[in-house]
Amino acid sequence: MSTVIVTGGAGFIGGNFVHYYLWAHPEDRVVCVDKLTYAGNLSTLAPVMDNPNFRFCKLDICDRDGIFKLFEEEKPDIVINFAAESHVDRSIENPQIFLETNIIGTSVMMDACRNFGNVRYHQVSTDEVYGDLPLDRPDMFFTEETPIHTSSPYSSSKAGADLLVQAYYRTYGLPITISRCSNNYGPYHFPEKLIPLMIANCLNDKPLPVYGEGLNVRDWLYVEDHCKAIDLIVHKGRIGEVYNVGGHNEMKNIDIVKLIIKELGKSEDLITYVTDRKGHDLRYAIDPTKIHNELGWLPETKFADGIKKTIKWYLENRIWWEEIISGEYQNYYDKMYSNR
Ligand code: NAD
Ligand code: TYD
Repeated sequence: MSTVIVTGGAGFIGGNFVHYYLWAHPEDRVVCVDKLTYAGNLSTLAPVMDNPNFRFCKLDICDRDGIFKLFEEEKPDIVINFAAESHVDRSIENPQIFLETNIIGTSVMMDACRNFGNVRYHQVSTDEVYGDLPLDRPDMFFTEETPIHTSSPYSSSKAGADLLVQAYYRTYGLPITISRCSNNYGPYHFPEKLIPLMIANCLNDKPLPVYGEGLNVRDWLYVEDHCKAIDLIVHKGRIGEVYNVGGHNEMKNIDIVKLIIKELGKSEDLITYVTDRKGHDLRYAIDPTKIHNELGWLPETKFADGIKKTIKWYLENRIWWEEIISGEYQNYYDKMYSNR
C-alpha cells in the first residue's frame, strides 16, 4: 500500500485523477493538497470525500512549513504535482501568482521530497513549454527533444518549473519524471477554458467568443486518457525522463465551437469573433511515440465520443458549473470579454 500526495486535486485534471486513482488502486491512500483558489472546487471531490483511503488538506504548495508538516504526518511514497495556475489569459493579466505557485510551489514540494527520504516525484507539465508550431507544417510535432521556447507567462512559469525538476534530478538525484500533455477536455473542466465555456454559453444562449479567426489548432485529449498516462509514468516510467502525452487529435478552435453548437442544437449566429489573445500560440501537436513505445500508452477515447460524453456531463451536472458562473467568475468574465 502506497500513500500518494496529489496536489491540485480540487481542479480539473487533478480531480479526475483522484477519482481515477482511487478506483484503479483501491489499496492506496490518496492525500489531496489544494489551496482552493478560484479554480479549486470541493464539489469535484464530493464523490470521494467519504472514502476512508482519501484525505483532503486545504494547503498552499508554497507554504513550506505546512507542506513539511504534512509530509511528516503522511510519510508519502509518491508525490504528483498538478497544482498550478493554469489559465493563459489570466497569466497575461497577472503573471506574478503564476511564478509563485508554478515555480516556487514546485520547489517547495521537491524540497519536501528530498527532506523526507527522496520521495518519488512526478511533475504534471504541458506541451505549451515547447511554444507553438506553424499552421502550414502538418509534418511537424513536439517531441521530448523539441527545445523549450515559451510564449505566455503561463507556459514560461511551467517551463521554469520543468527545468527546476530536471535540476533536482541531476543535482540531488531526486527520483523525478515529467509529463507534458496537450489540451485536455472532459468533466469538471472550469468554464473559463474553451470547451466548457462554449458549452455553458451555448446552453445559456450567450455569445460564443472566438479569438481572432478561430484558426488556431489544439491537440485535444480526453482527461481520463491523461490520468492513465500519468499513472503509468509514475509506476513504470524511467526515472529522470520526460514523456509527451497527446491524442493525435488536432482541431481548429472554430471547428470545436461549431461541433458544440451542432450537438446542442443551437445556431451558429451565437459565434462572435473577438480580439485575438496577445502572443496567441498557433498550433500545438504532440508526438507521443516515446510513451507508446516504452509504456504501451495510447489514447482510448475518440474525440467524437469524448465530446459527447463531456456535453452530457455538463447537461447532467448543471449545478456544478452554474454555481461557478454565478459567483466571482461573473466579474472575471465581464472584465475579460466586455469591449473585447
Ligand atoms: P485547474 O486550474 O483546473 O486546477 C488547478 C488546481 O490547483 C485548483 O484546484 C487550484 O485550487 C489548485 N492550486 C492552485 N494554486 C495552488 C497552490 N498554490 N497550492 C495548492 N493548490 C493550488 O488546472 P488543470 O487544468 O486541472 O491543470 C492541472 C495541471 O495540468 C497543471 O499543472 C497544468 O499546467 C497541467 N496541464 C493542463 C492542461 C489542460 O488542458 N488543462 C494540459 C496540460 C497540462
Ligand atoms: P484554452 O482553453 O484557454 O487553452 P490553451 O490556451 O491553454 O490552449 O484555449 C484553447 C484555445 O481556444 C486557444 O487557442 C484560445 C481559444 N479560446 C477562444 O477562442 N475563446 C475563448 O473564450 C477561450 C477561453 C479560448
